[in-house]
Order: sequence, then structure tokens, then C-alpha cells
Amino acid sequence: MNISIFGLGYVGCVSLGCLAKNGHFVIGVDTNPSKVDQINSGKATIIEKDVDTIIAEQKSAGHISATTDNQLAIKGSDISIIAVGTPSTDKGHLNLQYIFKVAENIGEALQHKDTFHIIAIRSTIMPGTCDKFAAIVERISGKKRNEDFAIVDNPEFLREGTAVQDYYNPPLTLIGSDNINAAEKVADLYRQLPAEVIITDLKIAEIMKYINNTYHALKISFSNEIGNICSELGIDSHKVMDIFCKDKQLNISPYYFKPGFAYGGSCLPKDLKGLQTLAHDLYIDVPVIDAIHKTNDLQIQRAIKLIYKYWDKKLGFLGLSFKAGTDDLRNSPTVTIIEALLGKGCDIVIYDKNINVAMLTGTNKEYIDSRIPHLSSLLVSDPEELINNCDIIVINTKEPEFIKLVEDIDNKIIVDFVRLDDAILSKSNYLGINW
Ligand SMILES: NC(=O)c1ccc[n+]([C@@H]2O[C@H](COP(=O)([O-])OP(=O)(O)OC[C@H]3O[C@@H](n4cnc5c(N)ncnc54)[C@H](O)[C@@H]3O)[C@@H](O)[C@H]2O)c1
Repeated sequence: MNISIFGLGYVGCVSLGCLAKNGHFVIGVDTNPSKVDQINSGKATIIEKDVDTIIAEQKSAGHISATTDNQLAIKGSDISIIAVGTPSTDKGHLNLQYIFKVAENIGEALQHKDTFHIIAIRSTIMPGTCDKFAAIVERISGKKRNEDFAIVDNPEFLREGTAVQDYYNPPLTLIGSDNINAAEKVADLYRQLPAEVIITDLKIAEIMKYINNTYHALKISFSNEIGNICSELGIDSHKVMDIFCKDKQLNISPYYFKPGFAYGGSCLPKDLKGLQTLAHDLYIDVPVIDAIHKTNDLQIQRAIKLIYKYWDKKLGFLGLSFKAGTDDLRNSPTVTIIEALLGKGCDIVIYDKNINVAMLTGTNKEYIDSRIPHLSSLLVSDPEELINNCDIIVINTKEPEFIKLVEDIDNKIIVDFVRLDDAILSKSNYLGINW
């Protein structure tokens, strides 16, 4: 395949060498003539293990070249990979000026090209950038997206210091596109790598790098806060985190990674508070850990706001405990929501087959008596009755029986906090909390 790469910095230089090594003819483009000269003399533009050797070998094999001439690069390639910088502005926003300048450059060059061209953005960009890029290319070239050219997002996951190793061993190959043929062609460039190829929506691919890197920063900061607490207590933080990582069911696993409603119950809020107070008593600042319950409270406020839009309607809650299959009401976020909505004068009924007020005992009973003392007057024993009598149905727990109850409802609003079942997501009367 003939490939052009715009931007011969870190990502561009590594891609140039590695794609050529994999048998492609690659032409690099940069506005900086000295980088172009370096490549044309067989030298890497960056200091990075193995890149020098790869560039020198591929240059002598005649597989790579470089230019400042956009038109030459576009004419001589079927796919253009965009790897220009996307730094932060002074205010912390993403500076996309280099990306949009390349869009203009490619738009001008495409005026002189008659064959289909694929643009793959490798730089880290915000959701919506590919659409803006394509609009600039259309405006300047006079060509039509998906008729004359296509755009895909193909974020780069390599890390400096291990860039070549990461290039050949990526965690996955991600391609976002509205053009499956273009996505498949770009995927073909990476199919020999030992990584799953995922083709998805453009905006999903665009946002992924931000989510990954934010999570990586969170992991480091969380581990550092744990380390600071442990070392103050004379506990070996590395032994602690090694054991933490051995739990592949709840800790290092997809478990809990589902956007949705707030956490609750008798353990998470209590033990989080316990660790916070421990750190506080040791005079250790733990802002990441401190922020967790604030985020959880915000999720409860978000849910209240979502339901309160229907304040003058009859509200029916399916599920009250903090998760399905239990009658534990302690720290159930749904109890907080209902308490707040009752305080605002809302008309509410609740169905939860696990809750029998007369059977509640101990701290569970004390908790609910202190929050919703007249709970028994709000409970109904027949879910059908709740559905028939209410205008808004709020699903709080993932009880399998709920799907049958709501799947055929079209004349009432369904508010879902648990993503009950994908089959109801597309209903026009359906509202998810954050999907
Ligand atoms: N560096 C990394 O480890 C890394 C890893 C993954 C993703 N990324 C992302 O990849 C992108 C590129 O990062 P980088 O570190 O390689 O950037 P860089 O700053 O090292 O290189 C960018 C290059 O683009 C060139 N350029 C600017 N405008 C141009 C234009 N109109 N035409 C041609 N060339 C132009 C610059 O002269 C420069 O050589 C960024 O979005 C970055 O966030 C970087």
C-alpha cells in the first residue's frame, strides 16, 4: 500500500518506519524542512529505541521518503495518516490548529486527485473533530465525503520510551468510521499485529484515548494515595497493591465498569469513609479518594433532577433496595431519591418483592425508619398495579422480572437507572441515566 504520513514527530516517525518495515511504501510530510531532510538522509527525527535502525534500513531499501510538498504526498498515496501535534492551549483546551491546517492542505491537494482517498487520523482528537476535518476537506477540495474520500479515526496507543515495542504489541487496534470499506482498508495495515481490531463509531474512537489516559492518570494517583497512607502506617504499599492486583474478579476486571447509578449499600460508603478518616487522622491529603463520595452524591442529584422533570405525575419505583435480590435498604441511593422527591411533594408508589416492612430488623429497620417512616403506605404488592396507576416508571434494580413488565409500555415514560435490557433502549419513551 502507498501511504502518506502528515507529521514526522514522535508518532509519525515511528509509524513511518514500522509501516515501511511491514512492506508498505511510506512518504512522510512535515512543515519542518529539517525533519524532512533527516528522514531523507535515513535518520530518525526522534530519540527512541530501535527507530534509528528501522528508519536507516527502510530508507536504504527505498521504502520511505519525506517531503514538504502536500500535493506530491497525496498524489502518491491511497491512505494519509495524520500524526500532527494536538497540544493544550493556555487554558487547557485542545489546540486543533495543526489538525485543521492539515485538513486545508489535504483539501487543496485533493483538488488535483481523481482516485478515492482515505484519511486516517492518528493524533489524539476530541469527539466531532473528524466531522469538522471532513467538512474542511469538502469545502476546499470540492469533493464529497464517502464518494471521493473517507475519514477514519485510528488513535495511537504507543508510549514514548517503548514506542516500537508498543507499535508491534498494541493493546488493541481501534478504528472509528462511518465508512466500513475505508475502516477495513486501514485495519488491513495492522491485521498482522497480535491485537484485536475493533471497528466502531467515529465519536467512540475519538473519545477513547482521553478516557484511557485519564484512567491511567487515575490509577497512578489512586495508587500513590494508597502508598502514602500505607507508608505512614509502616505497611509495604507494593505488597498491598500486588495483592490488590491479584483480585481479577472485582479489582482488575470489567466488573463495576458500567456507567449507571450511584453505589450504595452497607459496605462501600462505610469503608470508603473509614479509609478517608484514617488518612485524615494521619494528616495525609487524599483528594482522589475524597472526591469519590462527591461524585456518587452528584449521581444521586442527577437522578433526582431527571425524575423531578415529572414532578406533577404519579411516579412508580420498581426496586428500592441498593441492588437486586436483597432487602438491604441501608445507604440505598434510591431511598435518598425517594426521600428528596417526597420532600418536594411528589406522589410516589414503590414495588420491591424483597421488602416486607414487618420483617425488617436491626440497623436496616432503623435506617428506613429514620428516612421514610411511612414506607409501608407507599409499597404495593402487585407490580402490574403500579404500572397501571403510574405515569412514570423508574427502574432501580436489575430484577429479571422487570423487563416483562416494561417492554410493551408505550404510553408512559420509563426511566432506567440499571440498563435493564438492551431491547428497550431504543423505545421513544425510554430514558437512561447516562446512556
Ligand atoms: N508522543 C506520544 O507518545 C503519543 C502517543 C500517542 C498519541 N500521541 C498523539 O499523536 C499526535 C502527535 O504527537 P507527537 O508526539 O508525534 O507530536 P510531535 O509534536 O512530536 O510532532 C508533530 C509533527 O507535526 C508536524 N506538523 C505540524 N503541522 C503540520 C502540517 N500542517 N503538515 C505536516 N506536518 C505538520 C510538526 O512539524 C511536528 O513535526 C498528538 O495528537 C499526540 O497527542 C502521541
